[in-house]
Amino acid sequence: MITLERISKSYGPDNMAVAELSLEVGDGELAVLVGPSGCGKTTTLRMINRLIEPTSGRILINGENVLDQNPVHMRRGIGYVIQQGGLFPHRRIFDNVATVRGCSAGQRARGAPGERVAELVGLDPASYGRRFPHELSGGERQRVGVARALGADPPVLLMDEPFGAVDPVTRGRLQNQFLELQHELKKSIVFVTHDIEEAAKLGDRIAVLSTVGVLEQYDTPARCWADPPPRSWRTSWGRTAECAGWPWSRSRRATWPNPPA
Ligand SMILES: Nc1ncnc2c1ncn2[C@@H]1O[C@H](COP(=O)(O)OP(=O)(O)OP(=O)(O)O)[C@@H](O)[C@H]1O
Ligand SMILES: [Mg+2]
Repeated sequence: MITLERISKSYGPDNMAVAELSLEVGDGELAVLVGPSGCGKTTTLRMINRLIEPTSGRILINGENVLDQNPVHMRRGIGYVIQQGGLFPHRRIFDNVATVRGCSAGQRARGAPGERVAELVGLDPASYGRRFPHELSGGERQRVGVARALGADPPVLLMDEPFGAVDPVTRGRLQNQFLELQHELKKSIVFVTHDIEEAAKLGDRIAVLSTVGVLEQYDTPARCWADPPPRSWRTSWGRTAECAGWPWSRSRRATWPNPPA
């Protein structure tokens, strides 16, 4: 269980990135954060693993405040897929996936995660394993980033637009594989996306954020779909959300390809 209690991040008196966000993600649950660019999604993820120190508030993982823990130890239990992939540039792909920084001996002993997970995200280790990150496309690098985060088998995963740079067909396939994996592994996941359909497909719950991380709605995809967020939020995101396919008008909802069950 991940619990955010009124967490805030301020970069000075006139620059509030996140203001008093509270959110709960249950064990084995996948929560998706959606919202306009700059509303604090990445900041929120990075506060959970303390790459950014919150200005105030509490973050509990299984009841323990991460702010009281040694950040290096604490991060062993948290996989993180960053927005641009974030691979080690001078390590080959296989090493990037297998050598998860801070991965404990026990986690390594559970098997060589590199190959298995690379296959799961659709990268053949035989052809990709010995390459360096700059020898891959942006989308391939992102997939390696997903494989690396899963490689340490952490109970908690933070994923920042992990499929943002892949084409729609590959993205659909990766989403399906990822869902299968999640059914099996039951991680607690906070997942950021700009793609509303991706949010509806993958999320157990969708957190709709507006500027400075204000939580406008936090509900199952079906309930979000039946009852879209308030007008104040719609005008704050406006066209971006419209382009992303948020089905708030009746006509738009009628044509939405995959309404959540
Ligand atoms: N180091 C920093 N110093 C000052 N302001 C920052 C810093 N990092 C982020 N911000 C500001 O905090 C706000 C939230 O940024 P964040 O990266 O969390 O947005 P986001 O929701 O992830 O956006 P996107 O969808 O574009 O990735 C933005 O207004 C950003 O300009
Ligand atoms: Mg971001």
